[in-house]
Amino acid sequence: MSQLAFPIANTFGLAARCRQHLRVAAPCRFGVDEPALVVGEGSNLIPLCDFAGSVVQLADQQLSWQPQGDDWLVTAGGGCNWHQLVSELVTAGIGGLENLALIPGSVGAAPVQNIGAYGLEVGERIDWVEGFDRRDGQPFRLSASDCRFGYRDSLFKQADGQALVISRVQLRLPQAWQGRTSYAPLARLLDGKAVTPQQIFDAVCVIRRQKLPDWQQLGNAGSFFKNPLVSAEQAAQLAAAEPGLVSFAQGDGSVKLAAGWLIDRCGLKGLAVGGAAVHSEQALVLVNRSGTATARDLLQLALTVRERVQARFGVTLEPEVRFIAEQGEIGFDQALVRFLG
Ligand code: EPU
Repeated sequence: MSQLAFPIANTFGLAARCRQHLRVAAPCRFGVDEPALVVGEGSNLIPLCDFAGSVVQLADQQLSWQPQGDDWLVTAGGGCNWHQLVSELVTAGIGGLENLALIPGSVGAAPVQNIGAYGLEVGERIDWVEGFDRRDGQPFRLSASDCRFGYRDSLFKQADGQALVISRVQLRLPQAWQGRTSYAPLARLLDGKAVTPQQIFDAVCVIRRQKLPDWQQLGNAGSFFKNPLVSAEQAAQLAAAEPGLVSFAQGDGSVKLAAGWLIDRCGLKGLAVGGAAVHSEQALVLVNRSGTATARDLLQLALTVRERVQARFGVTLEPEVRFIAEQGEIGFDQALVRFLG
């Protein structure tokens, strides 16, 4: 039997293997003498090559909820499927997560990326996150503010949080539910009517199915790049030069640009390198068009997209996905040097 016998599950559909799979049910120590990679369902991972260690998943799939004061407290194991959790809550009449329907991945991975969609980020709903430090098995419980949530960012992506494994999450959902319908396509679909969590859930599912490819039919890892933040001056200059520029002013004076719009405006929808392509419906998603894309195809495509956007708008796109090499995660620039030479 080969030493690297086990496939690394990833929704982009790259062929890569690891040495073993572990399912972890209790705090323990691992990843000290050999590399280890904790994964949810591989929906945001780009394995660039075989991984010389263990791929670890959380076993706990328990879900429970109870009222406390004016809230629902929902406790979910890190191994629960995220969409299943949202769906069960909505069916039980508990609102608060419906904008995050159909996001692929696990509950344990959700706080790492601070998953977000249609006007809501999971960090806003988190009460605490529990788990352990994989270097010594020491348990921790962190409040939402300790988790340092930002746009697609958290403590768990920083150097001081990377050894923390999330095994359970508690969400706090107000019983006095208020729907979030400000995201324009959602508002249009709901047409200003009074709505229920179920109706928002259904509308979000409709929008996602229209815009985003189903990874089971067309491999992808969701948005490949983050929406870039620029200064108000740069946004104003770009808006003057580029009619229709899509931008969102942030509370701190910076402006978020729609990366999908920038890529689209460069005429890159459908651009292909080998088996990898810019999705023809949503330019922020790169797809494995024939199921045969290699890591090199994908990196070359991502580099071309970044260069073309940089040349036209002077804006540097940063990947939202995470790249995995033989020993663990590496950055985009490092991946380009290592795999494109
Ligand atoms: N747009 C284009 N052309 C395109 C794609 C987008 O013109 O090819 C325009 C759209 O018309 C819209 C704007 O760009 O005016 C933004 O597009 P969209 O609403 O589809 O959202 P996004 O910025 O591309 C972000 C998240 C998604 C999330 C949606 C909805 C990031 C990196 N992506 O995408 O999250 O579902 O908003 O809230 O923030 C993910 O993280 O994997 C993901 C799918």
